[in-house]
Amino acid sequence: MQMVSLSPPATWSPALWRSSPARQQPEWPDADRAEQVRQRLAGLPPLVFAGEARRLTGALAEVAAGQAFLLQAGDCAESFHDFTAVTIREKLKLLLQMAAVLTWGATLPVVKVGRIAGQFSKPRSSLTERIGDLELPSFRGHMVNGEAPVPEARVPDPERMLAGYHQSAATLNLLRAFTQGGFADLTRVHMWNQEFVAGSREGRRYERIASEIERALRFLTACGVDVVGERTLHQVDLWTSHEGLLLDYEEALTRRDSLTGDWYDCSAHMLWIGERTRQLDGAHVDFFAGVGNPIGCKLGPEASVNDVLGLCERLNPGRVPGRLTLITRMGAGRASELLPPLLSGVREAEHPVVWVCDPMHANVFTTASGRKTRHFDAVMTELEAFFAAHREQGTWAGGIHLEFTGDDVTECLGGSEQVDEEQLDAGYMSLCDPRLNGRQSLDLAFRVAELMRVPPGE
Ligand code: PEP
Ligand code: CO
Repeated sequence: MQMVSLSPPATWSPALWRSSPARQQPEWPDADRAEQVRQRLAGLPPLVFAGEARRLTGALAEVAAGQAFLLQAGDCAESFHDFTAVTIREKLKLLLQMAAVLTWGATLPVVKVGRIAGQFSKPRSSLTERIGDLELPSFRGHMVNGEAPVPEARVPDPERMLAGYHQSAATLNLLRAFTQGGFADLTRVHMWNQEFVAGSREGRRYERIASEIERALRFLTACGVDVVGERTLHQVDLWTSHEGLLLDYEEALTRRDSLTGDWYDCSAHMLWIGERTRQLDGAHVDFFAGVGNPIGCKLGPEASVNDVLGLCERLNPGRVPGRLTLITRMGAGRASELLPPLLSGVREAEHPVVWVCDPMHANVFTTASGRKTRHFDAVMTELEAFFAAHREQGTWAGGIHLEFTGDDVTECLGGSEQVDEEQLDAGYMSLCDPRLNGRQSLDLAFRVAELMRVPPGE
């Protein structure tokens, strides 16, 4: 892979963002304590290496060129409470399963990126939230405060950044062991089907693909291909990502790469800027313009062509393919109208971006009983509009960005098991936004593989 240097201005430094307006940052009650935590974090080892982040940029460059597809998925908010080997393994299984379906269906490499090992801080639309009769400061993710509906829990505590760092390190350690140590071996493709999924229609459909993959491997062996010795069949690259929201944390994890001299945010391979913090003159854009990692940026319905071109110029002035991923989240009803001008504007400006659809965040609504949810049909409608808009504009629909869990939850409505409003209470575990469960995710993967293959209306 070519060694790309982003070369931010020589005046850039990890603390430069402090001179710009920073939205969505907690007000730590004791500034000295927060500073001590920042210093401790800055002295701890990096979670990922610059060279790994560069390899991911290379993989994403293939996506930008239309030769691969990005699958980015995981929790809306990771939890300090729900932290076991089993939950991590189940998420990984689902990601591998979906990637197998997409690779098989579209015959393209799938770049696998988890919203995992660092997805602990949340932007909020309002400073406070109402729970029953109480008006409380909003829950901002476990790296900032607690979700319990009592005022003490909602006070931001900087020590949580250290806990988040250590949980990320342990999660990443297990993911590296699973993905490099045999669990992700393609010959184990049947074992990724979870029990509660296996008996369903999607589960049975997956079993058929898994059997075909096994047969293909036997065929290759019979042809004399060294299937046992081929590393790519036995290990996978699973990259980590989270929203780079909490700049105290991201600054402390930013290190200078000894090889290139460039700065990298070593808290994850890929970081994205959220819809609420993508202002061109804001601290988040200032910060991420200076680090060498691949960067994502969410784009909601208010994003204008000028905003998007401004972000391309600020975040990727060198037009490095794979450096910038634009994640559109427009809503099922509006994607067909809002996407085409953005796609053609970026195409005409010749910026080599990766286009990804987040069909989750603009399709949320609250039920009469107060549950935040999304309907599977709305998610699919936005995905269909995304693929159709890219076909129409001659641009590459490069990937999907999802909130899912390997647990058997009922948080999103619909899907082939027809989750309805009454069932939401039975298995609603998310700390923040509703996630697709295993069956819904697998169903979605099959449908996306079809959308990748068949032009709509043909
Ligand atoms: C998220 O990805 O969880 C999120 C808050 O997204 P957005 O910035 O698109 O609203
Ligand atoms: Co979310």
